[in-house]
Amino acid sequence: MAVPHLMSGHDLAGLALANRVVMAPMTRSRAGADCAPGDMHATYYAQRSSAGLIVTEATQVSPQGIGNPGTPGIYSNAQIAGWHMVTDAVHGAGGRIYLQLWHVGRISHPLMQAGGALPVAPSAIKPDGAVMTWDGMQDFVMPRALETDEMAGIVEQYRTGAANGRAAGFDGVEIHGGNGYLLDQFTRDGANRRNDIYGGSVANRIRLPLEIVEAVIGVWGADRVGYRISPFQPYNTMSDSDPEATFIALTAELETLGLGYLHVVEVSAPGAAPPDASVTEFLAARHALYKRIRDIFSRTVMVNSGYDRARGEAVIEAGAADLVSYGRPFIANPDLPRRLVENADLAAPDPATMYGGGAGGYIDYPKLMD
Ligand code: PHB
Repeated sequence: MAVPHLMSGHDLAGLALANRVVMAPMTRSRAGADCAPGDMHATYYAQRSSAGLIVTEATQVSPQGIGNPGTPGIYSNAQIAGWHMVTDAVHGAGGRIYLQLWHVGRISHPLMQAGGALPVAPSAIKPDGAVMTWDGMQDFVMPRALETDEMAGIVEQYRTGAANGRAAGFDGVEIHGGNGYLLDQFTRDGANRRNDIYGGSVANRIRLPLEIVEAVIGVWGADRVGYRISPFQPYNTMSDSDPEATFIALTAELETLGLGYLHVVEVSAPGAAPPDASVTEFLAARHALYKRIRDIFSRTVMVNSGYDRARGEAVIEAGAADLVSYGRPFIANPDLPRRLVENADLAAPDPATMYGGGAGGYIDYPKLMD
């Protein structure tokens, strides 16, 4: 078989992708008070449908799962209808789209929670810093540690979100297990100090994530479910005393469950090559954990974090990953795959319009002229 490139097709567990350039999940904070996507979201995603696969912005599975204003949900009829407009628009343009299922856990605030409730978490450990709320930036508060008998309800939130995602016409779902949100909080021991069956050993810390994966597989089948991890991500006050042991164990379990893909956020890995390093140096410097993950996980591996054209090509050609997800480059370059093929200049996104606002900086970035 010919060596694959960024623009080669890929068989994602039976779903044919036109290329290996994935649009990464990105919060854009443009949903209204009902957390439903609208016409603008449909336009935005359809404009980017030349990606081999789109993974939506993180989407809360329940009202408890919200952290910031403007993030969409997948727990109400209005949200399902709004997302159906999005999937119809993307499919109409020939694209593929997965829904990212999200619960922020402690990365929230009572102002965002029903009845001013405390955000929930594995343990009562307050993250550093502040969070955007309906009433501006607010310091994080001490979260409430979930009771053991509440775990089944968290699993149900994800099961319902997964079923609603099916009703909304998605091609599959990605469970967000990274970046310091609820499932990552359970997984990494810097945020999980529980002494029940959901804390302590690695097997216990990955218990809730795996219960959720099994529930979502029950809705979709394993082929159509992805999972996102970020083993070294410090964002949202995260740490782990042994990332290799934690994420090798999690990867092995996801392999056993036959998951469709694993999405690895590589940011902040120790020893990474600087941005100006050659692709050879970059490949050589990728953390050993990622090579272990690639060896253990037999299905599709997607990588992410600061990839450009050359590094994306290199990681695919080396067989170190199957797909590369690009985030920021997709904001201002709706036709990113074409620009990568043509090695065209990339437009820079305006930071002022990344989060929130209207059409400006969202659906008005032009494609290249023919
Ligand atoms: C964010 O809303 O800032 C956000 C959401 C999901 C991520 C990372 C950041 O994975």
